[in-house]
Parts: sequence; C-alpha cells; structure tokens
Amino acid sequence: MDDPGRMALGDDVVVAEALLGAPEAAHEAADEGWVPVVHSELLPPGGVVGFDHDDRGPLVVWRSEGGRVVAMDDRCPHQWSSLRAVGVVDGEEIVCTTHFWRFGTDGAGCKQSMHGRRDEKDAVDVMATLDDGDRVWIRPAGD
Ligand code: FES
Repeated sequence: MDDPGRMALGDDVVVAEALLGAPEAAHEAADEGWVPVVHSELLPPGGVVGFDHDDRGPLVVWRSEGGRVVAMDDRCPHQWSSLRAVGVVDGEEIVCTTHFWRFGTDGAGCKQSMHGRRDEKDAVDVMATLDDGDRVWIRPAGD
C-alpha cells in the first residue's frame, strides 16, 4: 500500500524543481543577452506590443497569425511611423497602416497593389526571439 505522505513529498519535490528551474534559466538567458518583454499569454496571434530597450531604442514585438513571434525596430522605414501604434498583423506580416507597407517575419518590406502585385520596399531590422511558453524573450544585440 502506498504511503500517502511519501506521495505528497514526491509531488512537492517535482513542483519545487520546476519552480527553481525557471529563475536559473532566466539568469542564464540574461547573461546571453536575452531580455523578457511580455508574458506569452499577453501576445496572442495578431498581437502587437511595444518595448523600449536602453541601447537599441523603441522595438515592436508581434505574433503572426500562424503563431511566430517577431521583434523588430519600431520604425517604419517609409516615413518612420511607429509600428506599435499603427501596425496591424495580417497573416504572416505586419502592415503599417499609415501607407500600407508590409513587413514579413524576416523584416522584408513590400507594398501590395489592389491587384496583388508586390513591389519590394525597404526592410526593418529584426532580432532573435524565443517563446518559452511563459514569457517572450528577445535578443536585441544578436540575431
Ligand atoms: S510610414 Fe509606414 S507605410 Fe508610410
């Protein structure tokens, strides 16, 4: 017959390891230049948030409708609109609604005509991202 007290202790150990593991991982990540920017649940598909980094300046973080997290400079290269303010996610792109330039998850820019023709435009710098299921991290200094 199982000892209920022993079972409870075993469960507690598992929980404690899980709780202790997260801060260690966070410290390691911070040492490698990763910065947490938002809880994962607050950035659903189609979500857009802004983040100001001390060295890199204003950044925008968004999640494509397919679930990919993207971090990029928060400045449309056309006339410098803030993408956190006017950006709208459309599929796997963010659209600057000032003049409708579009930027993919790799930062490549284009403008799409009403007939679907796409003309290449300037790109936006992107940076590495990581979603660990709890928080979204970005690496402003790396790629
Ligand atoms: S400022 Fe973004 S498209 Fe013109």
